[in-house]
Amino acid sequence: MTDSDIKFKIIIDGIQLEVDPGTTILNAARLIGGEAVPPAMCYYSSLDGSGGKCRTCLVEVVKGSEKDPRPMPKLVASCMTLVADGMEVNNKISEKVLEARAGVVEFLLINHPLDCPICDQAGECDLQNLAYAHGKSNTRYDFERRTFDKIDIGEYIKLHMTRCILCYRCVYVANQLTDKREHGILMRGDATEIGTFIEKNLKNDFIGNVIDVCPVGALTDKTFRFKSRVWYTKPMDAHRNCSCCKGKAVVWMIGDEIARVTARKDQYGEVKEFICNECRFEKKDKFDWTIEGPRNIDRSSVISANHYLEDAPKHTILLNKA
Ligand code: SF4
Ligand code: FES
Repeated sequence: MTDSDIKFKIIIDGIQLEVDPGTTILNAARLIGGEAVPPAMCYYSSLDGSGGKCRTCLVEVVKGSEKDPRPMPKLVASCMTLVADGMEVNNKISEKVLEARAGVVEFLLINHPLDCPICDQAGECDLQNLAYAHGKSNTRYDFERRTFDKIDIGEYIKLHMTRCILCYRCVYVANQLTDKREHGILMRGDATEIGTFIEKNLKNDFIGNVIDVCPVGALTDKTFRFKSRVWYTKPMDAHRNCSCCKGKAVVWMIGDEIARVTARKDQYGEVKEFICNECRFEKKDKFDWTIEGPRNIDRSSVISANHYLEDAPKHTILLNKA
């Protein structure tokens, strides 16, 4: 028997499966899919070091393993905890988990402005979806909210620090995908913020991907800002010959015009193949692309709810023709 033949049996929300040793509980749950999958706001499978920051993926381990069946004494972050043979995990069926998750959402929203009606991320914001599924309708927080001096991080990317949940994904993208990281997490405690220290522009060839990995509206695309609500756009798979990246993207169309370009994401909102700045920001003419056909949005989202309206309300469309 080789090492690769060894499998661990694990039960998540009553569903049994076999996984390779070294798999995290979160990735094991993703093999089951559906309601068994805990939400994840900071973990990102293609980014080394991600996970362990947000606590939205907490689960209850009711049986540690076959060898040591004792339950784990407290809820654990499923994105960081490895499975053991015989482990039993409760996610959606655990009252403790649901209560803790509601608490995490409350914490994440303490300083987050309720500006969804004007936020470009609305409709594809993981925090909005998380709050809808696990949040409460009011807050117990009475104190002044955190505010930050606005900083300009360049011509393509808009930073709204008050919306940031400090998941670190954008920092890992800049570290692992671009040739020089220009931003990071500065300060400590409730003064912690994303910044460039001495004001600088983020201008690496692949830096636009921070927009796609940001789970909230803290980093948005300046070339799409306030042009339309995403649910009025039609996402289409498209590709082009690009010398910098693979050129496989989603073009979000309003009528015949490309309103924005993003990378293709899977059902967990994770980018499959990162795209370069040129594809994302500079190729907005439909003749730049070979359009393959409508993209199937297979995560729960208001984007698919409208089934890509043919006639988006014209008053929401302010395409920049310049
Ligand atoms: S800006 Fe977005 S991606 Fe970066 S740490 Fe904040 S929430 Fe995460
Ligand atoms: S996704 Fe596990 S701690 Fe954030």
